[in-house]
Amino acid sequence: MSVDTYRPGLEGVPAAKSSISYIDGRQGILEYRGIRLEELATQSTFLETAYLLIWGQLPTKEELKSFQHDIRYHRRIKYRIRDMMKCFPESGHPMDALQASAAALGLFYSRRALDDPIYIRNAAIRLLAKIPTMVAAFQLIRQGNDPVQPCDDMDYAANFLYMLTEREPDELAARVFDVCLLLHAEHSMNASTFSAMVTASTLTDPYAVIASAVGTLGGPLHGGANEEVLTMLEEIGSVENVRPYLEKKLENKSKIMGFGHRVYKVKDPRATILQNLAEQLFEKFGRDVYYDIAIELEQAVEEKLGAKGIYPNVDFYSGLVYRKLGIPTDMFTSIFAIARVAGWLAHWKEQLGENRIFRPAQLYVGMHDRPYIPPKERT
Ligand code: ACO
Repeated sequence: MSVDTYRPGLEGVPAAKSSISYIDGRQGILEYRGIRLEELATQSTFLETAYLLIWGQLPTKEELKSFQHDIRYHRRIKYRIRDMMKCFPESGHPMDALQASAAALGLFYSRRALDDPIYIRNAAIRLLAKIPTMVAAFQLIRQGNDPVQPCDDMDYAANFLYMLTEREPDELAARVFDVCLLLHAEHSMNASTFSAMVTASTLTDPYAVIASAVGTLGGPLHGGANEEVLTMLEEIGSVENVRPYLEKKLENKSKIMGFGHRVYKVKDPRATILQNLAEQLFEKFGRDVYYDIAIELEQAVEEKLGAKGIYPNVDFYSGLVYRKLGIPTDMFTSIFAIARVAGWLAHWKEQLGENRIFRPAQLYVGMHDRPYIPPKERT
């Protein structure tokens, strides 16, 4: 290993072979298991797409029915997990609560039979089913309320919104939320997925794998940018202020939140779909003033930075959608996690198929042959 081959952050270094998702950042293409994201977003559901990601093909009608049934059956969480969550501080971040709760699941379902497809299926079902319940439960608990039990008559997205608001959600709102989950379900070798794979490669249990990925997603360089987009739009405050704000930011060499991507050099295909979803919500429930600011900002950034390949990324419009759905800003990253569980599980399963424990090398840059100095002789 030489200094020449060292790439900080492993940038551009292939760390695995995968057939789960494909990105073409120059043409703005994202495929899950070979199917274009746009096709899935208009015709599939989050759960069907999760099945596709994890098992590699679209389920038959019967497989889908049984998968959906099993997810519904496993949505509830044990009262001891709810009681544990009641002990968390209200001021704690929802992502920290989720990481702890996901890890706690492993205490209840810890049997590791990683060569048994039934164990793999049950663990995937439990995690997909229970993570939304835990996210909604913490939101109610931190407000001083008891969590709401899942509703057996509602599908995945509608049930989550119901558990969060204690009201039956509007049909369009539930469909839009379902598509949001689908859009965030997978995105190749990002930091949290890599973290999941490293953990998986030790053959630990899947609850530890997901807890580790949740911890990684929580960092501001990864899952947190959509929160910051909303703060920025609020700070801009009016359409008239967009261009002066942008000028000032660029003068100070600051990054504009929700723009730019390591891989995409055109508008992120997920941003285009999210913008369309936001418009559907605004048409039904009233336009959000921040949307006008966002449109003007997209135009202004394109004029200034389009030549550098800086366009809206997935985080630019997702916050506006979540805000219209009534989701508190500090829960945005947990929503991301609910969706990304599908991708993490797909990579976990793929990793087990051809496992080799991750053990990269390092370039040692420290000292050698240093004498040990006893405490009394140290100055
Ligand atoms: N605003 C202004 N200028 C930008 C932006 C931006 N958002 N993003 C990149 N640039 C400029 C850089 O200043 C740099 O300019 P230079 O060549 O004149 O020095 C050039 O574009 C290349 O930028 P890099 O930072 O090298 O691009 P990189 O691929 O490393 O960064 C990143 C990608 C981290 C996403 C960056 O665009 C950014 O910080 N964006 C804002 C935060 C954000 O929205 N993050 C969410 C990403 S999506 C996700 O993680 C789910």
